[in-house]
Amino acid sequence: MRLNSQSPLRLQAQTPLLRWLAHEPPDLDRARAAAARIEQDANRAADVISSLQSFYRTGIPTKRQSVDLKEIIGEMTILLRAEAERYAIATHQEIDVCLPRLFASRVQLQQILMNLMLNAIEAMKDTGGEMTIKAKIDSNGLVVTSVSDTGVGLAAENIERIFDPFHTTKPQGTGMGLTITRSIVESYGGRVWANPNQGPGATFHFTLPRETEAQI
Ligand SMILES: Nc1ncnc2c1ncn2[C@@H]1O[C@H](COP(=O)(O)OP(=O)(O)O)[C@@H](O)[C@H]1O
Ligand SMILES: [Mg+2]
Repeated sequence: MRLNSQSPLRLQAQTPLLRWLAHEPPDLDRARAAAARIEQDANRAADVISSLQSFYRTGIPTKRQSVDLKEIIGEMTILLRAEAERYAIATHQEIDVCLPRLFASRVQLQQILMNLMLNAIEAMKDTGGEMTIKAKIDSNGLVVTSVSDTGVGLAAENIERIFDPFHTTKPQGTGMGLTITRSIVESYGGRVWANPNQGPGATFHFTLPRETEAQI
């Protein structure tokens, strides 16, 4: 994903604005509303990008704090929206209304979601499809998040190997996304695993402990 001034994120965001301006006469109210949306999306994307950049520069994850997972899922969906739309992928969310907060590093949660969501998009590049992100609390009080796609799917014999360092089936792949994801999730005492779907595609799940009163 390119994140410079020519990025698909920016080009895609401008399209509705240009459409309203191209009207005869130009629809300025709608253009203004479209411009405000672009600014809002751009600010949120810029926040996510700058925190990811600072992580890669220093190598030190930001400290753990009380965070709203629903908000982070929303930010990552906006950040990857242009990439998803480019490949005709629709994104859906099913987030529990009473999802508890997590005590976690925002940047690490962004990394986990970015890795799983980019993999989902990459699995549907040739076909388009649906990406669904769900988050709920399970009966053990753990927060379970899943990212599913309707893409190429997983062969049963590869299901553990995909988490190995440098295991990739992509010409430009690093094979490190899932390795990093697993190490972050395990540093919270959580678990990450993958399932083939009943229909096409795969689902990745991870668990994280909810914020406890002791942590606040
Ligand atoms: N959603 C998915 N659907 C199908 N295969 C996947 C999916 N996510 C990961 N994989 C497989 O796991 C491999 C490792 O993924 P990852 O560690 O993120 O590295 P990379 O994306 O660089 O290949 C991928 O190359 C692919 O074969
Ligand atoms: Mg990857």
